[in-house]
Amino acid sequence: MIRLGYVGAGYMAQAAHLPNFTALPDCEVVALAELRPQLGERVAQRFGIPRLYRHHTELLADPDIDAVAVSAHFSHQAQVAEDALRAGKSVFMEKPIALNAARAERLLHAEQESGARLMVGYMKRYDAGWELAKRLVDEYRQTGAIGDLFFVRLRCHYHEWTRGDSSRLIDTGEPYPPADTETPDWLPPEYQEAFVNFTQLYCHHVNLLRWMLGEEAEWRVVAVDLDSDGMTGAVVLRIGDVCVVMETGAQRSMRWDEHLHLDFRRGWIRVDAPQLMVRNTSAQVEVCATDNGMEQRRLFPPDYWSWSYQREAQHFIECLRTGAPFRTPGRDAFKDIELIEAIYRHWLQGA
Ligand SMILES: NC(=O)c1ccc[n+]([C@@H]2O[C@H](COP(=O)([O-])OP(=O)(O)OC[C@H]3O[C@@H](n4cnc5c(N)ncnc54)[C@H](O)[C@@H]3O)[C@@H](O)[C@H]2O)c1
Repeated sequence: MIRLGYVGAGYMAQAAHLPNFTALPDCEVVALAELRPQLGERVAQRFGIPRLYRHHTELLADPDIDAVAVSAHFSHQAQVAEDALRAGKSVFMEKPIALNAARAERLLHAEQESGARLMVGYMKRYDAGWELAKRLVDEYRQTGAIGDLFFVRLRCHYHEWTRGDSSRLIDTGEPYPPADTETPDWLPPEYQEAFVNFTQLYCHHVNLLRWMLGEEAEWRVVAVDLDSDGMTGAVVLRIGDVCVVMETGAQRSMRWDEHLHLDFRRGWIRVDAPQLMVRNTSAQVEVCATDNGMEQRRLFPPDYWSWSYQREAQHFIECLRTGAPFRTPGRDAFKDIELIEAIYRHWLQGA
């Protein structure tokens, strides 16, 4: 049994992580820390969490906690995670690992020095459909069954990602605790908000792309063309020897438009992501192979009716129990913020 302390009782805690961690048979959520007192009290009560603290440092002093999960605001959570690691607790944290690479590096040092371990919440890598796609990409690249992979397009035009469904969540209206937003020191202040918005969403996609194409593959930014909102446009990358185009921005429509299309010389794989936060459904995978006549198939993973966030929580607890490596470790998430910084640097400085 892993005794978990949870930090931050806001949206992600209530909508995903607390329902998931409290439902796992080998995890007991024994304490909650929340800066907003009424929110803390009501959320602890709803999820039956016995001990409540105000600040995460109080929770970290609790000797009866094995590990910590955190979904504080993106400006707070790198500090929370670093303090937890330094207190010797392994950490599950929401993405992004930090808002600049230097800050993220401090977390990696804390991890190395403490011996505790850091996992970052990139739930797409735990989605059964994305898992199936990853297996197919690896297999096709290894066997050459449908020729070389030569082009990848990723599109995420976001809108209303919570589906307007926050009605069951507790919101006490208490003022939000102030925090410094630690964006890269080279970034002009007028681009700070756009950088945060871009990072918040597209760190998921650079993480996914690097996983699909090989986490160890070299990457470089080839071109960036964004509108003045710093969100809308296209990013061209080279990951390994593959040309990758990311289409970014917001668009209101009647479906969630997030997909990955991988072109091989004699076929393709397409993956359509489920809308964020939707429970018990996976990404949909379609494959076209042209070798033995034309064939186009939709494939379903064995665990199709499952929820990525739930599998992610399970993975964290299992890895703590067994010592197995995390699929989304901090040292890998570090590369995402490096890459995001490089995209923005290219856009603003042309290099
Ligand atoms: N994976 C996903 O799909 C996804 C989706 C949305 C948000 N996120 C990430 O989740 C994180 C949290 O987002 P959210 O919408 O839940 O935030 P939120 O603002 O709703 O909640 C954060 C809570 O943490 C509390 N808090 C902050 N610092 C604290 C501290 N030191 N000690 C105790 N409590 C503290 C705040 O008072 C707040 O109530 C963000 O980093 C965001 O990037 C991930």
